Amino acid sequence: MSKTFDLLNMRPSGIPNMEGLFGKAHSHNWDIDRDVDWSRGIQPDDPVMGPRWAPYSLTPTFRKLPLRARNHFTRRSFSFTLNSLRLGEAVAEEVCFRVGLKSRHPDQKSHAAAQAMDEARHYTAYSRILEMLNEQPEEIEKHTRTTFDTVLALDSVHDLIAWEMFYLESLATNVLRLIGQHARHPVVKRVFRLSTRDESRHMGFGILYVQDWLGRCNFDEQVEFAGTWLNQILTLSFGQQDPTSLNRTTRWLYEADVANSLELATAMLREQQVVLQRDFEDAAAGTRVPQELKSARRAGLLRPDLLEALRLQAHPLVRGALAASEKDD
Ligand SMILES: [Fe+2]
Ligand SMILES: [Fe+2]
Repeated sequence: MSKTFDLLNMRPSGIPNMEGLFGKAHSHNWDIDRDVDWSRGIQPDDPVMGPRWAPYSLTPTFRKLPLRARNHFTRRSFSFTLNSLRLGEAVAEEVCFRVGLKSRHPDQKSHAAAQAMDEARHYTAYSRILEMLNEQPEEIEKHTRTTFDTVLALDSVHDLIAWEMFYLESLATNVLRLIGQHARHPVVKRVFRLSTRDESRHMGFGILYVQDWLGRCNFDEQVEFAGTWLNQILTLSFGQQDPTSLNRTTRWLYEADVANSLELATAMLREQQVVLQRDFEDAAAGTRVPQELKSARRAGLLRPDLLEALRLQAHPLVRGALAASEKDD
Protein backbone atom coordinates (compact mmCIF):
# COMPACT_ATOMS: atom_id res chain seq x y z
CA MET A 1 0.00 0.00 0.00
CA SER A 2 1.42 3.40 -0.97
CA LYS A 3 2.00 6.16 1.55
CA THR A 4 1.98 9.88 0.79
CA PHE A 5 5.76 9.74 1.17
CA ASP A 6 6.02 7.24 -1.71
CA LEU A 7 3.92 9.34 -4.06
CA LEU A 8 5.75 12.52 -3.08
CA ASN A 9 9.05 10.89 -3.96
CA MET A 10 8.08 9.26 -7.25
CA ARG A 11 10.58 9.70 -10.07
CA PRO A 12 10.23 8.83 -13.76
CA SER A 13 11.69 5.42 -14.56
CA GLY A 14 14.20 6.99 -16.95
CA ILE A 15 13.45 4.26 -19.51
CA PRO A 16 13.74 5.93 -22.94
CA ASN A 17 10.48 6.28 -24.91
CA MET A 18 8.29 5.10 -22.03
CA GLU A 19 6.59 8.46 -21.55
CA GLY A 20 5.85 8.63 -25.29
CA LEU A 21 3.77 5.46 -25.01
CA PHE A 22 1.32 7.14 -22.66
CA GLY A 23 0.79 9.90 -25.23
CA LYS A 24 0.21 7.28 -27.95
CA ALA A 25 -2.42 5.61 -25.78
CA HIS A 26 -4.44 8.82 -26.21
CA SER A 27 -3.75 9.59 -29.86
CA HIS A 28 -4.51 5.96 -30.82
CA ASN A 29 -7.57 5.74 -28.61
CA TRP A 30 -10.79 4.39 -30.12
CA ASP A 31 -14.36 4.55 -29.02
CA ILE A 32 -16.35 1.36 -28.85
CA ASP A 33 -19.58 3.00 -30.09
CA ARG A 34 -18.25 5.68 -32.41
CA ASP A 35 -15.55 3.63 -34.18
CA VAL A 36 -17.38 0.32 -34.64
CA ASP A 37 -20.65 -0.02 -36.55
CA TRP A 38 -22.62 -2.50 -34.45
CA SER A 39 -25.79 -2.24 -36.54
CA ARG A 40 -25.25 -5.49 -38.47
CA GLY A 41 -26.12 -8.52 -36.36
CA ILE A 42 -24.74 -12.03 -36.73
CA GLN A 43 -27.11 -14.53 -38.38
CA PRO A 44 -27.47 -17.91 -36.59
CA ASP A 45 -25.81 -19.81 -39.49
CA ASP A 46 -23.02 -17.26 -40.13
CA PRO A 47 -19.60 -18.92 -39.59
CA VAL A 48 -18.18 -15.38 -38.98
CA MET A 49 -14.69 -16.57 -39.98
CA GLY A 50 -13.28 -17.68 -43.34
CA PRO A 51 -13.02 -21.39 -44.23
CA ARG A 52 -9.32 -21.76 -43.32
CA TRP A 53 -9.34 -20.28 -39.83
CA ALA A 54 -10.82 -22.92 -37.49
CA PRO A 55 -8.60 -25.52 -35.78
CA TYR A 56 -8.17 -28.53 -38.13
CA SER A 57 -9.61 -26.54 -41.06
CA LEU A 58 -6.50 -27.34 -43.11
CA THR A 59 -6.87 -31.11 -42.65
CA PRO A 60 -8.26 -33.23 -45.52
CA THR A 61 -10.99 -34.71 -43.27
CA PHE A 62 -12.30 -31.28 -42.25
CA ARG A 63 -12.34 -30.07 -45.83
CA LYS A 64 -14.49 -33.03 -46.91
CA LEU A 65 -17.19 -32.25 -44.31
CA PRO A 66 -20.50 -30.83 -45.59
CA LEU A 67 -20.55 -27.00 -45.71
CA ARG A 68 -23.14 -26.79 -42.93
CA ALA A 69 -20.92 -28.83 -40.59
CA ARG A 70 -17.81 -26.77 -41.43
CA ASN A 71 -19.74 -23.55 -40.79
CA HIS A 72 -21.08 -24.82 -37.48
CA PHE A 73 -17.64 -26.01 -36.37
CA THR A 74 -16.05 -22.68 -37.32
CA ARG A 75 -18.68 -20.65 -35.50
CA ARG A 76 -18.39 -22.80 -32.36
CA SER A 77 -14.61 -22.59 -32.35
CA PHE A 78 -14.77 -18.82 -32.81
CA SER A 79 -17.14 -18.48 -29.87
CA PHE A 80 -14.86 -20.71 -27.77
CA THR A 81 -11.71 -18.73 -28.74
CA LEU A 82 -13.44 -15.43 -28.06
CA ASN A 83 -14.55 -16.58 -24.62
CA SER A 84 -10.94 -17.53 -23.73
CA LEU A 85 -9.63 -14.23 -25.12
CA ARG A 86 -12.19 -12.31 -23.09
CA LEU A 87 -11.02 -14.03 -19.91
CA GLY A 88 -7.44 -13.12 -20.89
CA GLU A 89 -8.55 -9.47 -21.11
CA ALA A 90 -9.94 -9.64 -17.57
CA VAL A 91 -6.61 -11.07 -16.35
CA ALA A 92 -4.66 -8.39 -18.25
CA GLU A 93 -6.82 -5.66 -16.71
CA GLU A 94 -6.14 -7.05 -13.24
CA VAL A 95 -2.38 -7.13 -13.97
CA CYS A 96 -2.53 -3.45 -15.02
CA PHE A 97 -4.26 -2.48 -11.77
CA ARG A 98 -1.53 -4.22 -9.79
CA VAL A 99 1.33 -2.69 -11.80
CA GLY A 100 -0.31 0.71 -11.40
CA LEU A 101 -0.55 0.27 -7.62
CA LYS A 102 2.91 -1.20 -7.11
CA SER A 103 5.09 0.85 -9.45
CA ARG A 104 6.97 3.78 -7.95
CA HIS A 105 7.42 5.54 -11.31
CA PRO A 106 4.77 7.97 -12.63
CA ASP A 107 5.39 7.09 -16.29
CA GLN A 108 4.73 3.40 -15.55
CA LYS A 109 1.68 4.17 -13.42
CA SER A 110 0.23 6.32 -16.22
CA HIS A 111 0.86 3.64 -18.80
CA ALA A 112 -0.72 0.96 -16.60
CA ALA A 113 -3.81 3.15 -16.12
CA ALA A 114 -4.16 3.77 -19.87
CA GLN A 115 -3.59 0.09 -20.62
CA ALA A 116 -6.22 -0.97 -18.06
CA MET A 117 -8.69 1.22 -19.99
CA ASP A 118 -7.73 -0.54 -23.26
CA GLU A 119 -8.14 -4.00 -21.72
CA ALA A 120 -11.54 -2.98 -20.30
CA ARG A 121 -12.57 -1.84 -23.79
CA HIS A 122 -11.40 -5.14 -25.33
CA TYR A 123 -13.35 -7.04 -22.67
CA THR A 124 -16.50 -5.04 -23.45
CA ALA A 125 -16.13 -5.40 -27.24
CA TYR A 126 -15.58 -9.19 -27.03
CA SER A 127 -18.58 -9.46 -24.68
CA ARG A 128 -20.77 -7.68 -27.21
CA ILE A 129 -19.67 -10.01 -30.01
CA LEU A 130 -20.34 -13.03 -27.77
CA GLU A 131 -23.83 -11.69 -27.12
CA MET A 132 -24.38 -11.28 -30.86
CA LEU A 133 -23.22 -14.87 -31.44
CA ASN A 134 -25.55 -16.14 -28.73
CA GLU A 135 -23.82 -19.56 -28.67
CA GLN A 136 -23.88 -21.98 -25.75
CA PRO A 137 -21.10 -21.00 -23.34
CA GLU A 138 -17.93 -23.10 -23.73
CA GLU A 139 -15.74 -24.20 -20.85
CA ILE A 140 -12.26 -22.64 -20.76
CA GLU A 141 -9.43 -25.19 -21.24
CA LYS A 142 -7.91 -26.31 -17.95
CA HIS A 143 -4.33 -25.36 -18.88
CA THR A 144 -5.48 -21.83 -19.81
CA ARG A 145 -7.17 -21.39 -16.42
CA THR A 146 -4.14 -22.76 -14.59
CA THR A 147 -1.79 -20.36 -16.38
CA PHE A 148 -4.12 -17.42 -15.71
CA ASP A 149 -4.06 -18.41 -12.03
CA THR A 150 -0.24 -18.38 -12.11
CA VAL A 151 -0.33 -14.83 -13.49
CA LEU A 152 -2.89 -13.69 -10.92
CA ALA A 153 -0.70 -15.03 -8.08
CA LEU A 154 2.33 -12.89 -9.11
CA ASP A 155 3.49 -10.15 -6.83
CA SER A 156 6.49 -8.26 -8.24
CA VAL A 157 6.16 -5.57 -10.91
CA HIS A 158 8.76 -7.20 -13.17
CA ASP A 159 7.09 -10.64 -13.01
CA LEU A 160 3.69 -9.10 -13.71
CA ILE A 161 4.99 -7.13 -16.70
CA ALA A 162 7.03 -10.05 -18.09
CA TRP A 163 4.08 -12.45 -17.90
CA GLU A 164 1.74 -9.88 -19.35
CA MET A 165 4.04 -9.18 -22.28
CA PHE A 166 5.35 -12.69 -23.08
CA TYR A 167 2.22 -14.65 -22.29
CA LEU A 168 -0.97 -12.57 -22.22
CA GLU A 169 -0.01 -10.29 -25.10
CA SER A 170 2.59 -11.94 -27.35
CA LEU A 171 0.88 -15.31 -27.43
CA ALA A 172 -2.57 -13.75 -27.84
CA THR A 173 -1.34 -11.48 -30.64
CA ASN A 174 -0.81 -14.53 -32.90
CA VAL A 175 -4.48 -15.40 -32.36
CA LEU A 176 -5.74 -11.79 -32.71
CA ARG A 177 -3.89 -11.26 -36.00
CA LEU A 178 -5.29 -14.45 -37.48
CA ILE A 179 -8.81 -13.45 -36.47
CA GLY A 180 -8.31 -10.00 -38.05
CA GLN A 181 -7.07 -11.62 -41.27
CA HIS A 182 -9.72 -14.36 -41.54
CA ALA A 183 -12.80 -12.56 -40.17
CA ARG A 184 -15.66 -12.31 -42.66
CA HIS A 185 -18.00 -10.36 -40.44
CA PRO A 186 -17.27 -6.59 -40.53
CA VAL A 187 -17.75 -6.05 -36.77
CA VAL A 188 -15.30 -8.83 -35.91
CA LYS A 189 -12.77 -7.63 -38.47
CA ARG A 190 -12.95 -4.05 -37.21
CA VAL A 191 -12.76 -4.89 -33.50
CA PHE A 192 -9.80 -7.23 -33.92
CA ARG A 193 -7.86 -4.81 -36.12
CA LEU A 194 -8.26 -2.19 -33.38
CA SER A 195 -7.48 -4.50 -30.45
CA THR A 196 -4.38 -5.90 -32.23
CA ARG A 197 -3.08 -2.34 -32.63
CA ASP A 198 -3.57 -1.71 -28.90
CA GLU A 199 -1.80 -4.96 -28.01
CA SER A 200 1.27 -4.06 -30.05
CA ARG A 201 1.56 -0.82 -28.05
CA HIS A 202 1.18 -2.81 -24.82
CA MET A 203 3.90 -5.23 -25.95
CA GLY A 204 6.10 -2.22 -26.73
CA PHE A 205 5.81 -1.13 -23.10
CA GLY A 206 6.66 -4.64 -21.83
CA ILE A 207 9.66 -4.94 -24.14
CA LEU A 208 11.07 -1.55 -23.05
CA TYR A 209 10.57 -2.53 -19.42
CA VAL A 210 12.18 -6.00 -19.74
CA GLN A 211 15.15 -4.60 -21.73
CA ASP A 212 15.79 -2.07 -18.98
CA TRP A 213 15.26 -4.54 -16.13
CA LEU A 214 17.57 -7.08 -17.74
CA GLY A 215 20.24 -4.40 -18.09
CA ARG A 216 20.15 -3.89 -14.31
CA CYS A 217 20.66 -7.61 -13.54
CA ASN A 218 24.02 -9.36 -13.29
CA PHE A 219 24.90 -11.97 -15.91
CA ASP A 220 23.74 -14.97 -13.85
CA GLU A 221 20.36 -13.35 -13.25
CA GLN A 222 20.08 -12.51 -16.94
CA VAL A 223 20.78 -16.15 -17.84
CA GLU A 224 18.20 -17.37 -15.36
CA PHE A 225 15.53 -14.97 -16.64
CA ALA A 226 16.24 -15.71 -20.32
CA GLY A 227 16.37 -19.47 -19.62
CA THR A 228 13.02 -19.49 -17.85
CA TRP A 229 11.27 -17.62 -20.64
CA LEU A 230 12.96 -19.27 -23.61
CA ASN A 231 12.27 -22.75 -22.22
CA GLN A 232 8.64 -21.81 -21.96
CA ILE A 233 8.43 -20.10 -25.36
CA LEU A 234 10.31 -22.79 -27.28
CA THR A 235 8.05 -25.57 -26.06
CA LEU A 236 4.80 -23.86 -27.04
CA SER A 237 2.79 -25.03 -29.99
CA PHE A 238 3.53 -23.15 -33.21
CA GLY A 239 0.25 -23.96 -34.85
CA GLN A 240 -1.58 -21.18 -36.62
CA GLN A 241 -4.52 -22.11 -34.46
CA ASP A 242 -4.53 -23.84 -31.06
CA PRO A 243 -5.80 -27.40 -31.42
CA THR A 244 -8.93 -28.17 -29.40
CA SER A 245 -9.40 -31.36 -27.37
CA LEU A 246 -10.81 -34.53 -28.92
CA ASN A 247 -13.92 -34.26 -26.75
CA ARG A 248 -14.71 -30.74 -27.82
CA THR A 249 -13.92 -31.42 -31.48
CA THR A 250 -16.18 -34.50 -31.48
CA ARG A 251 -18.98 -32.56 -29.80
CA TRP A 252 -18.89 -29.73 -32.37
CA LEU A 253 -19.15 -32.29 -35.19
CA TYR A 254 -21.89 -34.20 -33.40
CA GLU A 255 -23.92 -31.00 -32.91
CA ALA A 256 -23.79 -30.53 -36.70
CA ASP A 257 -25.25 -34.04 -37.24
CA VAL A 258 -22.01 -35.47 -38.62
CA ALA A 259 -22.16 -39.26 -38.63
CA ASN A 260 -19.06 -40.96 -37.11
CA SER A 261 -18.13 -37.72 -35.36
CA LEU A 262 -15.62 -39.43 -33.04
CA GLU A 263 -13.88 -41.21 -35.90
CA LEU A 264 -13.66 -38.04 -37.98
CA ALA A 265 -12.47 -35.93 -35.04
CA THR A 266 -9.72 -38.50 -34.34
CA ALA A 267 -8.65 -38.34 -37.99
CA MET A 268 -8.56 -34.52 -37.86
CA LEU A 269 -6.34 -34.53 -34.77
CA ARG A 270 -3.99 -37.04 -36.44
CA GLU A 271 -3.82 -35.10 -39.71
CA GLN A 272 -3.14 -31.89 -37.78
CA GLN A 273 0.38 -33.23 -37.01
CA VAL A 274 1.34 -32.56 -40.62
CA VAL A 275 0.04 -28.98 -40.34
CA LEU A 276 1.95 -28.44 -37.08
CA GLN A 277 5.14 -29.81 -38.60
CA ARG A 278 4.76 -27.35 -41.49
CA ASP A 279 4.25 -24.47 -39.04
CA PHE A 280 7.35 -25.54 -37.12
CA GLU A 281 9.38 -25.65 -40.35
CA ASP A 282 8.12 -22.17 -41.31
CA ALA A 283 9.19 -20.84 -37.91
CA ALA A 284 12.59 -22.59 -38.20
CA ALA A 285 13.10 -21.11 -41.67
CA GLY A 286 12.18 -17.66 -40.33
CA THR A 287 9.28 -17.26 -42.76
CA ARG A 288 6.67 -17.06 -39.98
CA VAL A 289 8.12 -16.36 -36.56
CA PRO A 290 5.66 -16.53 -33.64
CA GLN A 291 5.17 -13.22 -31.84
CA GLU A 292 6.44 -14.53 -28.49
CA LEU A 293 9.81 -15.32 -30.06
CA LYS A 294 9.94 -11.91 -31.76
CA SER A 295 9.20 -10.29 -28.40
CA ALA A 296 11.93 -12.39 -26.74
CA ARG A 297 14.44 -11.19 -29.33
CA ARG A 298 13.38 -7.55 -29.02
CA ALA A 299 13.64 -7.72 -25.23
CA GLY A 300 17.24 -8.96 -25.55
CA LEU A 301 16.77 -12.64 -24.66
CA LEU A 302 18.41 -13.88 -27.87
CA ARG A 303 21.72 -12.12 -27.19
CA PRO A 304 24.62 -14.36 -28.32
CA ASP A 305 26.22 -14.54 -24.84
CA LEU A 306 22.91 -15.58 -23.24
CA LEU A 307 22.22 -18.17 -25.94
CA GLU A 308 25.71 -19.58 -25.50
CA ALA A 309 25.30 -19.84 -21.71
CA LEU A 310 21.94 -21.58 -22.24
CA ARG A 311 23.29 -23.74 -25.13
CA LEU A 312 20.44 -22.62 -27.32
CA GLN A 313 22.43 -21.13 -30.23
CA ALA A 314 21.64 -24.10 -32.48
CA HIS A 315 17.95 -24.41 -31.59
CA PRO A 316 16.07 -24.33 -34.94
CA LEU A 317 13.45 -21.85 -33.72
CA VAL A 318 16.08 -19.51 -32.27
CA ARG A 319 17.97 -19.61 -35.56
CA GLY A 320 14.75 -18.93 -37.45
CA ALA A 321 13.92 -15.93 -35.26
CA LEU A 322 17.41 -14.49 -35.69
CA ALA A 323 17.42 -15.08 -39.45
CA ALA A 324 14.09 -13.25 -39.75
CA SER A 325 15.14 -10.36 -37.55
CA GLU A 326 16.74 -8.18 -40.24
CA LYS A 327 13.64 -8.03 -42.45
CA ASP A 328 11.44 -7.82 -39.42
CA ASP A 329 12.99 -4.67 -37.99
FE1 LIG B 1 -6.28 -6.56 -24.50
FE1 LIG C 1 -2.92 -5.82 -23.61
